[in-house]
Amino acid sequence: MRIPCAYANWKMNKTLNEALDFVYEFVPALFSDINEGSVGVSIFPPAPYIYPMRQELGEDSPIFIGAQNIYYEKEGAYTGEMSGNILRSAGASHVLVGHSERRHIMGEDNKTVGRKLARILRDRLIPVLCVGEQLRDREAGKARDVVEEQLAVAWEGQEVTGGALIAYEPVWAIGTGKNAEPRDAQEMADFIRSWTSRFFTPETAATIRILYGGSVSPENISQYARLPDIDGALVGGASLDTKQFLEIAKAIAETGPGGTV
Ligand code: 13P
Repeated sequence: MRIPCAYANWKMNKTLNEALDFVYEFVPALFSDINEGSVGVSIFPPAPYIYPMRQELGEDSPIFIGAQNIYYEKEGAYTGEMSGNILRSAGASHVLVGHSERRHIMGEDNKTVGRKLARILRDRLIPVLCVGEQLRDREAGKARDVVEEQLAVAWEGQEVTGGALIAYEPVWAIGTGKNAEPRDAQEMADFIRSWTSRFFTPETAATIRILYGGSVSPENISQYARLPDIDGALVGGASLDTKQFLEIAKAIAETGPGGTV
């Protein structure tokens, strides 16, 4: 069974104290109401907070800490970059790759995303591969083609052995308040599910969790959480607020993976 996920991408926000305050408030409040196994929570803070947050949570905590970025080389003279080993030794277990802000602001193309994904898998970290079309692609009826190309180039030559997630985040829905129609999100998640079944095996594809991201809020989360091919959400803005992210995580836990309710 795929455990549903509530993942928080904090992007370039919060001070260290604010990040630690979030841990003090969020964790006890989350597990006072719901069972620890009912939702997988991963927080992707700014990189310097990975280690102190992991320390504060403790090794046994069910909350994962992830990195927002990685470099594809193993080690060496790459000033300012971070390898998988560095991230893992600081306490990260998951890594975002292919996020639309990295693609469209930092200019990362599909090939770069693929090289980073390969590094994440080789260094035994769990990737959250983000894919999604721009508004002009959707308007031109090319949303699927764009996502398919992103998937095909990223996964070329890769195998999934230790877990992986794919987040469908339409670019036009990120940070805009214009969340995707649940019908469109389900259609793309179904497409991603069948693409991964063909590319890997149906058994492997069944282990890959598919998240929706893009203006997720406490008000709209249940529309996505109940969709058959969506196993949770990757949340930006609303994850910065303890109360809002708690509501989202609880709604996801209640609905279950792939929307069983
Ligand atoms: P928002 O939830 O702020 O739209 O951001 C989504 C996102 O980019 C998560 O990775």
